Amino acid sequence: MKVFITRNIPDVGPEKLRGTGWHVDQWASDDVIPRATLLERVAGCDAVLSLLTEKVDAEFLNAAGPNLKVVANLAVGFDNFDVPAMTARQVIGTNTPEVLTDTTADLAFSLLMATARMLPQAQKYVHDGKWTTWGPLLFRGQDIHHATLGLIGMGRIGAAMARRGAGFEMKVVYYDAYRREDLEAQYGYEYRGSVEEVLREADFVSLHTPYMPSTHHLINAERLAMMKSTAILINSARGPIVDPTALYNALHAGTIWAAGLDVTSPEPIPLDDPLLTLDNCLIVPHIASASMHTRDAMSALAADNIINVLRGMAPKTPVNRDAVAARGLA
Ligand code: DGY
Repeated sequence: MKVFITRNIPDVGPEKLRGTGWHVDQWASDDVIPRATLLERVAGCDAVLSLLTEKVDAEFLNAAGPNLKVVANLAVGFDNFDVPAMTARQVIGTNTPEVLTDTTADLAFSLLMATARMLPQAQKYVHDGKWTTWGPLLFRGQDIHHATLGLIGMGRIGAAMARRGAGFEMKVVYYDAYRREDLEAQYGYEYRGSVEEVLREADFVSLHTPYMPSTHHLINAERLAMMKSTAILINSARGPIVDPTALYNALHAGTIWAAGLDVTSPEPIPLDDPLLTLDNCLIVPHIASASMHTRDAMSALAADNIINVLRGMAPKTPVNRDAVAARGLA
C-alpha cells in the first residue's frame, strides 16, 4: 500500500501509518505543497492524508488514479473535497469531528472575550508606553455575562460554544436548519426561526455552520445592518461565510462594535487587506483546533481512518457513506 501525507503534521498519525509497514511518503514541510507537486506525488497512491489547503477534485482524483481508496482530511470541515466526484469513484472521504470540538469552541469563546474587552488594543496601549494612569474612560468594552449569545449553527461546535456561554450566564439563542429541542429542554437555549432574528437580537453572533454554496456570504451587508451597533461577530467556521468588504464597511462605520476572526477570505489574509487596518477587528491565523492534545488527536484519527479502509474495514468518521457502502465496508 502507498500512502501520501501532504504536510508536516503531529508525529502520532505518520508513526501509526509507518507502523503498518506500508510505503509512506510525506511532503515534509510546513508550507503548502505546490499543486503540481501534489498531483505528481499522489499518483498511484492507495490513500492520501490531506489538509484543508488541498483541493480534492476531479483533477486530483485523476492524478491519483484508480488505486485511490481513501482521502483522510486533517480537519472537521471538508469544503476542500468534491464529495460527489469522490463518491462517483468510490473514493472514501473522512474528516476529524468530535476530537476538536471543545478546543475549537475554546478559541471561538476566546475571540469573543478578547474583542468584547478590547484585549488586543489594551495590550498594544501598554506596549506603546501609553499607560500613565488608571482611567475611568479607558478601554470600556462590552459585558459578556448576561449578554445574549446568538449562534448560527447548533452542531457539535455550536453546542460547545453554547455551553461556554451558559457558563457566563448568557442567554443563548440560535438558528439551525435542524432544531435541537433536546438542547432547548435541557439547557434552556432558545430557537429562532431565521438567521435574521438571531442577528437582530444577539449581543454576540458566533458562526458555526459549514461552508457550502448556501452559506457563501451568508453574513452580507444587508444582514450586518441588522446587528446591534454594540454587537460583535465571531467567525471560527470558514472565511467566505462572511462578505469581507461588507464586514470592513460595518466595522469602519461602527455599525457593529467588533469582529473576531479565526478564518478569513482569502487565507492567508493579504497584508494590504483593509480589515488589517481596523483596531476593532481581531484576526488570528485559523488556529481554532490548534492545541497540542487536539492536533495529536486529529493526526491519530486521520491515520486510523486510512488504516481501517486499507485493512478492509469501515473508517471511523466518513463523510460519504455511499462510497463506504460501495466498497462493501459499511
Ligand atoms: C477544521 O477542522 O475544519 C478546522 O477549520 C481546522 O481545524
